[in-house]
Amino acid sequence: RTVYVNGEYLPEEQATVSIFDRGFLFADGVYEVTSVIGGKLLDFDGHAARLERSLNELEMPNPISRDDLLAVHRELVSANGIEDGLVYLQITRGAADRDFAYPEDPTPTIVLFTQAKPGLADNPKAQTGMKVISIEDQRWGRRDIKTVQLLYPSMGKMMAKAAGADDAWMTEEGHVTEGTSNNAYIVKDGTIITRHLGTEILHGITRAAVLRFAKEAQMKVEERAFTLDEAKEADEAFITSASTFVMPVVEIDGTALGDGTPGPVARRLREIYLDESR
Ligand code: PDD
Repeated sequence: RTVYVNGEYLPEEQATVSIFDRGFLFADGVYEVTSVIGGKLLDFDGHAARLERSLNELEMPNPISRDDLLAVHRELVSANGIEDGLVYLQITRGAADRDFAYPEDPTPTIVLFTQAKPGLADNPKAQTGMKVISIEDQRWGRRDIKTVQLLYPSMGKMMAKAAGADDAWMTEEGHVTEGTSNNAYIVKDGTIITRHLGTEILHGITRAAVLRFAKEAQMKVEERAFTLDEAKEADEAFITSASTFVMPVVEIDGTALGDGTPGPVARRLREIYLDESR
């Protein structure tokens, strides 16, 4: 695989980052994941805009222009022959003497690599739907910044696996925030309900696209917090993310939703999203 590190394209074995990198020592870094279907990048501008916002929130200098970033994405997709897959991008504050205070004149580290995911858009899970468990949301309070502090979501994924489920929905004061790496939705009497934007959740790029398509298709959308109890009584549920698009959820904490199969709204939104993206 060819990867990109600080301005250079290199074979992955030759790509290195300092042990003093603040991404490694402090999780002082931000990232984006952009999907590729049929060799085409999905929603690059949305991801680039969110990256710029994350950097701003952390007062981290941006080492690359949007045009150059797009060129690197395209070069890696082509060099690695990615038909279906993902481009991962990470920017950290770079190497500095270990100190909690930000260094004064940091040189950010920028790394990009691709992951081939053949058949990404034909994930068989979309036919059967996912099972989720609920766990307390114990992440930090600025989940709107896409940082690389992903240990709690990683623990959540392991708790889900141990329980025989596919993912975990996190709750705060009884209300669902989001999945470990995706936004969460329920559908009740035809209305799509998903948490409003704020610091409690990541502002999903797929979320923005899916809500736009839903409104264009005259579906009713409510952006508000919903409780776990409300979710268990919903007609259907689903998640969205760059790596899953729209994925039905059929079970929460062992409670089947509706008849326990992917619901019509989730199926329709997945179809619309993939049609619009191809
Ligand atoms: N995760 N919420 C969280 C906590 C996420 O980590 C993600 C994305 C999303 C969905 O955002 P988007 O639609 O922009 O992908 C919501 C990526 C895919 C990841 O960490 O791999």
